[in-house]
Amino acid sequence: MKNVIIVSQNQNYYSIMSPTTTMIFLSLQLITSFLFTAIASSSPPGGFTIDVIHRRSNSSSSRFSKTDDDQLGSPYANTVFTTSEYRMKLQIGTPPIDIEALIDTASGIVWTQCLPCLSCYDQQDPIFDPSKSSTYKEKICDQDPNNPCRYEVTYADQSYSKGVYATETVTFQSTSGQPFVMAQTTIGCGHNNSVTLSPAASGIIGLDRGASSLISQMSQNFFSFFSYCFSRKETSKINFGSNAVVSGDGTVSTTMFRNTEKPNFYYLNLDAISVGENRVETMGTPLYSLEGNIIIDSGTTYTYLPDSFCSKVKDAVDSVVKVERAAFSGDMLCYNTADIDIFPVITMHFSGGADLVLDKYNMYDNTGDNYCLAISCVGPTEDAVFGNRAQNNWLIGYDTSSELVSFKSTDCSALY
Ligand SMILES: *[C@@H]1O[C@H](CO)[C@@H](O)[C@H](O)[C@H]1NC(C)=O
Ligand SMILES: *[C@@H]1O[C@H](CO)[C@@H](O)[C@H](O)[C@H]1NC(C)=O
Repeated sequence: MKNVIIVSQNQNYYSIMSPTTTMIFLSLQLITSFLFTAIASSSPPGGFTIDVIHRRSNSSSSRFSKTDDDQLGSPYANTVFTTSEYRMKLQIGTPPIDIEALIDTASGIVWTQCLPCLSCYDQQDPIFDPSKSSTYKEKICDQDPNNPCRYEVTYADQSYSKGVYATETVTFQSTSGQPFVMAQTTIGCGHNNSVTLSPAASGIIGLDRGASSLISQMSQNFFSFFSYCFSRKETSKINFGSNAVVSGDGTVSTTMFRNTEKPNFYYLNLDAISVGENRVETMGTPLYSLEGNIIIDSGTTYTYLPDSFCSKVKDAVDSVVKVERAAFSGDMLCYNTADIDIFPVITMHFSGGADLVLDKYNMYDNTGDNYCLAISCVGPTEDAVFGNRAQNNWLIGYDTSSELVSFKSTDCSALY
């Protein structure tokens, strides 16, 4: 999906990094609102969020109750890494069909490609065929009882999915050993879809704060926690419910903030970035805030920072690294070296004392003969994004009930 990132080791990579295509890397932030005939009146200004689902007051609470917790266990899904993105495996429909969809904490629709295709891209698993599922039911909009609710979502890299909303059974694995079944989950059944990155996932699992995200649909019942641990080597897991609580030695937590203009993102507050011993403060730059200034996004690979602060971080790195800068590195900070050890350790300081001392892999990316800083500078109006590369080998828990994100340094490939 969104980001192309450093996959190729040829010169084309650098042309990808040209300023005009910077937005590509922010792809999973929505840039257009979902177009909903049914809810046009409730679309907030700015169009970032979308309370698309017209939920009846008690329609979901009947699915399962808190008292089922012990029997149901904690749901989880296996995750896989593909080039620059993390996916989760789950099942939809009855009988259950496997899908593998991108994990995206910065978008809010759960969708998968669906037959019949007006236009679908190639995916690894067979495309979901709703006509073969006994639990698939198109959602009807209140304002137009004769037609299914349509959705349309476009991501910042121009990837998109268009289709209809449906309720469908979604099945996870569970620590109880029994499948964890979420009946009547609202999903988007995408009939016209396009993504920019291949190999492509079957769809996208939106996990933001919006009402239609997977975690919101769970938390209306009882789960307000999820955690993941991204590893580039092996498969890992994304956990929900009690098993998703991140605690114990070495755990640090920071508050998640809600931005009134973009209320569905998980904003964290970045105080500073240390390059070696050199602490570069956000204070004094436009990024400075006490109420959230960077989105934590599992669906974007690199970390993005606005120019004003970003250039200070780059300068700090450049003052330490003594080897020659790579030619044609465009906006990225790249060096002619195959030795990652020459680079300084980078620490991200989130408010509340959550200091993440990052591994070199988190912050430096091998592009063949070169290493580049895995931070990209963006314009002053663009959002700062804490991407999945930097999150690698951290067990990261989101607790939407106490508004905390917790981090624990972990060898994610050894965890499960
Ligand atoms: C809501 O709950 C009430 C009482 O249990 C029930 O009569 C009603 O049918 C429910 N409505 C929906 C939409 O499920
Ligand atoms: C799919 O959506 C795209 C983007 O809006 C549009 O240009 C195209 O015509 C659509 N394809 C079909 C077959 O409807």
